[in-house]
Amino acid sequence: MKNIGILSTGHYLPSRVLTNADLEKIVDTTDEWIITRTGIKERRIADKDERCSHLAINAAIEALERGKIDAKDIDLIIVTTITPDSNFPSVACLVQKAIGATNAAAFDISAACSGFLYGLTTAKQFLAGGIYKKVLVIAAEKITDLVDWNDRGTCVLFGDGAGACILGEAEEGHGILSEHLHAQGEFGHLMAVITEMKDPLEQDNDTTKSPVINMQGKELFKVAVNSMAEAIEISMKKAGVSLDQIDCVVPHQANDRIITAVAKKLNIPKDKIFINIHKYGNMSAASIAVALYEAEKQGSIKKGSLVALVTFGAGLVSAANIVRW
Ligand code: UT7
Repeated sequence: MKNIGILSTGHYLPSRVLTNADLEKIVDTTDEWIITRTGIKERRIADKDERCSHLAINAAIEALERGKIDAKDIDLIIVTTITPDSNFPSVACLVQKAIGATNAAAFDISAACSGFLYGLTTAKQFLAGGIYKKVLVIAAEKITDLVDWNDRGTCVLFGDGAGACILGEAEEGHGILSEHLHAQGEFGHLMAVITEMKDPLEQDNDTTKSPVINMQGKELFKVAVNSMAEAIEISMKKAGVSLDQIDCVVPHQANDRIITAVAKKLNIPKDKIFINIHKYGNMSAASIAVALYEAEKQGSIKKGSLVALVTFGAGLVSAANIVRW
């Protein structure tokens, strides 16, 4: 089996910033409540005419440029998103066309906030098995389209963005050392976007109503902490490494208090954990992809670093990878 690693990363964040002060004007909340209960200070919001594919394409272009990789050398594009432009075509096909990856296959994955790690692990299988040489994985979300801007319990949490990476053969001893994917469908009701069912013979079918995020935050919080802690432990065991060897933990950024609780449970020093939730809120699958990009850019991850990636999301789906950078 070949060593498979991340050759390059990219990201894209919409320029429009929505601060806690802006939210104070639309719901009964305060900057103080949002910061102390979540750690979020501001988030990015895509423009009305900026769709998921727009974010994905820009993140992909940066990953190609930074890796000096020709789009024609990409064999497969995987986009992980729960907010595609439309039911079909897939966002991956829209990206394929835009970047000119004419030799690539393309499909989307739906695994909510765990999508990026589900994408990495899927990509690794195609590469390790020798089917493909280079795979582009993009996590892109315009999740603010699913937000109920009247619900203070959820609207303060989310933001839009995208992160991308290109995977291929890595040097000996480097690359993705282990993976853990898990699902607990019994917790699916804790966070959902429910589409209304329609009867073709009913005259009052309202096609203008858009579905929004429904969340039981408190319950989700507890399951999130347990599943992330378990995912890190399992992936470390599979990789044959211990916590003291890990240089940087990059977690899903849903709530700073969830990250702190996981750190406490596993006894991880908080300075080993990369956090950027204060700037972007929860960008679903894109959160960890953008965090990974920034962790490398800011020097928290260097060549040779041992990195733990860990996520949880609606489904409930959790995932972790141990990577030697
Ligand atoms: O990617 C997965 C996405 N989701 C998550 O990870 C969510 C996980 N859960 C959480 O992050 C937290 O549960 C929340 C941030 C959503 C909520 O924090 P909490 O500490 O669990 O608050 P709570 O829901 O227990 O609410 C406490 C109080 C309530 O008021 P009362 O009943 O005590 O009077 C809420 O109505 O805070 C109130 N509240 C707010 N107050 C001001 C809820 N949202 C707000 C708000 N501003 N935005």
